[in-house]
Amino acid sequence: MDAQVTPAPEVTAPVYVYELPVRLWHWITALAITILAVTGFLIGNPAWPLITGEPYNHYIMGDIRFIHFTAGYVLAIGMLVRIYWAFAGNTYAREIFMPHVWKREWRSSFLRTIRWYLLIEPETAKEVGHNPLAQVAMFTMFLLGVLFQIVTGFALYGEGTGPGSWANIVFSSWVIPAFGSSQDVHTWHHLGMWYLVIFVMIHVYMAIREDIMSRQTIISTMVNGWRFFKDNRP
Ligand code: HEM
Ligand code: HEM
Repeated sequence: MDAQVTPAPEVTAPVYVYELPVRLWHWITALAITILAVTGFLIGNPAWPLITGEPYNHYIMGDIRFIHFTAGYVLAIGMLVRIYWAFAGNTYAREIFMPHVWKREWRSSFLRTIRWYLLIEPETAKEVGHNPLAQVAMFTMFLLGVLFQIVTGFALYGEGTGPGSWANIVFSSWVIPAFGSSQDVHTWHHLGMWYLVIFVMIHVYMAIREDIMSRQTIISTMVNGWRFFKDNRP
């Protein structure tokens, strides 16, 4: 902190960035995805719960599937609420839905962030919302990945609930023919899990790294909503 400089308020003043619905949604979604990945992995690789005997008596795969479907509903309803909040919330609530790629300023900031992550740029820019690279990752990897999992997941779910059920009418009826067969949807839904797992690994690493190395608070912002800046330079 440079004590000689009188900070311009707009450069240092904390900003309320992530409103309560966004923060609640973030942590609920993180939990739902973790549960979905663990239970989904077990659905695809059921060798782990090596339980012998009559399935009816222990019902372990039934329980795992039930937990998966419950978390699936939480994820999907959460996503609907989050889409509503993109319209109702503040400007930062829209960032992951629409990275401003058409703006020259945004693109130069995007390239600057890449240089910063490659350790070429000595200093990162101050960011109030997500940095442009994070916006792109959240749009392409998180948003598209989650929507894909919801559509394919409910298509598989609708096969179980049967013809006439809402999931069968809304999803299974067209998704399964579009992929070719139920097994194809299973395979793509399974691959979708790894796509999201890769996102989460990079995302958590970046959140911790930027919390330490960037010029603003990061993790606490997703807890209390406020962005604080660590220095008063522009
Ligand atoms: C399954 C796990 C997770 C998923 C799917 C996930 C997903 C996301 C998404 C979609 C956003 C954008 C929020 C928005 O603007 O609407 C976000 C932001 C954020 N996440 Fe996560 N997250 C996960 C776990 C975590 C964990 C474990 C941490 C803490 C280490 C974390 C820290 C953050 C932070 C700090 C931001 C805001 C970053 C910024 O201000 O640029 N996330 N996350
Ligand atoms: C982050 C989101 C999700 C992940 C990571 C995930 C992961 C998985 C995985 C890995 C499988 C096993 C696929 C296989 O190898 O056959 C699976 C199966 C399945 N998932 Fe998901 N899933 C997600 C979301 C959903 C949603 C939203 C639903 C909707 C209810 C859903 C419903 C199903 C169904 C019905 C199956 C097949 C169960 C069976 O055949 O016994 N999934 N999921």
